[in-house]
Amino acid sequence: MELPPRLRQAVDKMLEGTPLPALQAAANQLSRRYRSETRDGRLHVGEMIAAKAYLAARLPATYAAIRRAISDVAELNAGDAPRTLMDVGAGPGTALWAALEEWPQIEEAILIEASEAMRQVGESLAQEIGPTRLSWRDMKIEGGLPGIEPADLVTLCYVLDELEPATAEALIGRLWALTKEVLLIVEPGTPAGWQRILKARRELIEAGAHIMAPCVHQITCPIVEPDWCHFSRRVARSRIHRLAKGGEVPWEDEKFVYIAASRLPSSARRSRVLAPPKVASGMVRLKLCNPEGEVEERLVTRREGAGFKAAKRLAWGDSLEE
Ligand SMILES: C[S@@+](CC[C@H](N)C(=O)[O-])C[C@H]1O[C@@H](n2cnc3c(N)ncnc32)[C@H](O)[C@@H]1O
Repeated sequence: MELPPRLRQAVDKMLEGTPLPALQAAANQLSRRYRSETRDGRLHVGEMIAAKAYLAARLPATYAAIRRAISDVAELNAGDAPRTLMDVGAGPGTALWAALEEWPQIEEAILIEASEAMRQVGESLAQEIGPTRLSWRDMKIEGGLPGIEPADLVTLCYVLDELEPATAEALIGRLWALTKEVLLIVEPGTPAGWQRILKARRELIEAGAHIMAPCVHQITCPIVEPDWCHFSRRVARSRIHRLAKGGEVPWEDEKFVYIAASRLPSSARRSRVLAPPKVASGMVRLKLCNPEGEVEERLVTRREGAGFKAAKRLAWGDSLEE
């Protein structure tokens, strides 16, 4: 997956002239803080060089993950396309770009972000965005988001892992109260990220939300540790992305996990593909989460005709109608 050309160009322009050693050092530090899930009361991205390192080294991957989750939401959404967006912990506006790619009709977006450097970078990139009315808010989540109006689509992407557990717990209920249609939460696809998503899932179900994706039921998650639910997106690395990370390979695989909750129930019976399908001659082996709330290994053979053809087209993360 590549960034949309307008975003790619805006990022490249923003990074022009940034000294590479400083960018690499900031990307390294950012990566260390994310990997260790450091919570020391400081934002990971406080300075402009860290915000630029985020653009070079993380935005392509978080964009790819959010874009995929938004496609899944759009595929299953029983309601109207969203007209308003609220993105919390917006960073450089990643979710805004991903949402506009799917729903260009979004008229208004509120972007809540505590880091001044991130807001500056995000506002600069967003000059390339068309007529959508944007309002960037300098706000800390811990304050409870006072005075914020509800929005059709609410997003919280790669933020829960930066919050204290008590703040994260209070935030889910607050965001659901501010959601008119769909709430989407995306996290890194690690066991810890999955646990945070499971916790949010339980809170949302208790609050009366209908889970729309990736889960295909509201029953207790059937996945048992050491397994964990996650998905993957292959991301093309641009030259500056490779240089910032000091890597040679022209792509990376971003593992992510997400949950989308809707105000509307869905009557569709679907299963979700939980791992890369194994294709052998005349057969496809699928690991599925099914609507009965079970993890199932399903073998689809050539004898099943159209079902086999459909199974061969499935990829990790796709859903299929039952
Ligand atoms: C990993 S970045 C994610 C940015 C963007 N959502 C994305 O997916 O690319 C997390 C963002 O949340 C912001 N953030 C972290 N803690 C916050 C808090 N307590 N209040 C407001 N913003 C916060 C950070 O400054 C950072 O921009």
